[in-house]
Amino acid sequence: MRHPTPDDQRRVLAVMDAWWAGFQGDAGSLQRSLLLPRLYFQHFTDSSFLVERDDGRLAAFLIGFVSQSQPEIAYIHFVGVDPLLHRRGVGALLYRRFFRLAAARGCRQARCVTSPGNTASLAFHTGLGFQVDPGDTTIDGVAVHRDYDGPGLPRIAFTRMLTDPISPPPPATTDVRVCFLGDSFTAGVGDPTGLGWVGRLAAHTENTGLQLTAYNLGIRGNTSAQIRARWRQECLPRLSAAPQGRLVLSFGVNDMTHDGQGLRVPPEQSVANLRALLTEALPILPVLMVGPPPSGDPGRDDRVAALDEQYAHVCAATNVPYIPVFAALKDQPSWQQGIAAGDGAHPAAAGYEQLTSIIVDPWRRWLSHPIQDL
Ligand SMILES: CC(C)(COP(=O)(O)OP(=O)(O)OC[C@H]1O[C@@H](n2cnc3c(N)ncnc32)[C@H](O)[C@@H]1OP(=O)(O)O)[C@@H](O)C(=O)NCCC(=O)NCCS
Repeated sequence: MRHPTPDDQRRVLAVMDAWWAGFQGDAGSLQRSLLLPRLYFQHFTDSSFLVERDDGRLAAFLIGFVSQSQPEIAYIHFVGVDPLLHRRGVGALLYRRFFRLAAARGCRQARCVTSPGNTASLAFHTGLGFQVDPGDTTIDGVAVHRDYDGPGLPRIAFTRMLTDPISPPPPATTDVRVCFLGDSFTAGVGDPTGLGWVGRLAAHTENTGLQLTAYNLGIRGNTSAQIRARWRQECLPRLSAAPQGRLVLSFGVNDMTHDGQGLRVPPEQSVANLRALLTEALPILPVLMVGPPPSGDPGRDDRVAALDEQYAHVCAATNVPYIPVFAALKDQPSWQQGIAAGDGAHPAAAGYEQLTSIIVDPWRRWLSHPIQDL
């Protein structure tokens, strides 16, 4: 998080239509762009904030200031969060930061407005403890000022005392439920202990303060296409009641397997499946991906190595932590010996132990901080 500079104005304008999802059509789009002239990025920067990902892409912004005329009031003029990051506390994080700054400058109240019909904004502000000010009419049961910003420009106005406690970030000790969605490696095939890497990983939550429920949803022989098709139906019932539902993905080896006629899923389709799955899941859940491992067939391993790199790019582009395991396991005796002594594709207990040791540190970091680069 940093303060914006004048050059950031065009970057913010460039994302607004997408981030507001075309709210109120062309008229809404024009209104919004006119509400953020360059002056906000020149003269209000030290009380405004911008959040970027590690690669510099914009993740969120808040334009706010201390009132010139009423110095006890801090005003939030505009806030937006990348839809891929909604409902992960990013907006609340920006507000908490702004409230701290405003309180340190002697403000007692925060104020802002939003348009009637912006239900996410209404829920967000009331969720953060803002009260809706009385208006001169009601729309959908909410008090509204009809011509607040000019004829035909109604607004809902909010006020919040800064002396009200700022709600802390979600507590670290909490009920976290994770679906592990994948193939036979996810299911732990070949491991006589029955633990596989998922069972071993689940045992590594000590000292995180979390109570983990791990659902192993590995199915032998599943490709990315089959996993994409079943993820909603299988994961959402397991996670819908969870205060923190998460998803771990791992697939790819079956895609790169010949079925007599060709590859079960060509690489470009496999990558498209991952991208589509992430597009569906990310607005709802934090996701972590474990890359496909080697599986004892030299030709398939070469294809899996190439797919591993492409998966890593897709995850980087969508801000999903990706744990590559292929290169680390390729020449690992415990992995290869297990495959040779077993069914020719799956490792035994020592191999899964080795795989777990690669995943465990990033897994523990992700458990504590599902949005790693904020
Ligand atoms: C409004 C907005 C900034 C919220 O950002 P966010 O990062 O998704 O919000 P948070 O994750 O911090 O949400 C904090 C709380 O607000 C409430 N909330 C936020 N979005 C909500 C929604 N769509 N529905 C219901 N409640 C919501 C919840 O109580 C949430 O806590 P919870 O997830 O633990 O239940 C975001 O939806 C956005 O950018 N919308 C488009 C731009 C916009 O409308 N800006 C505001 C008007 S200028």
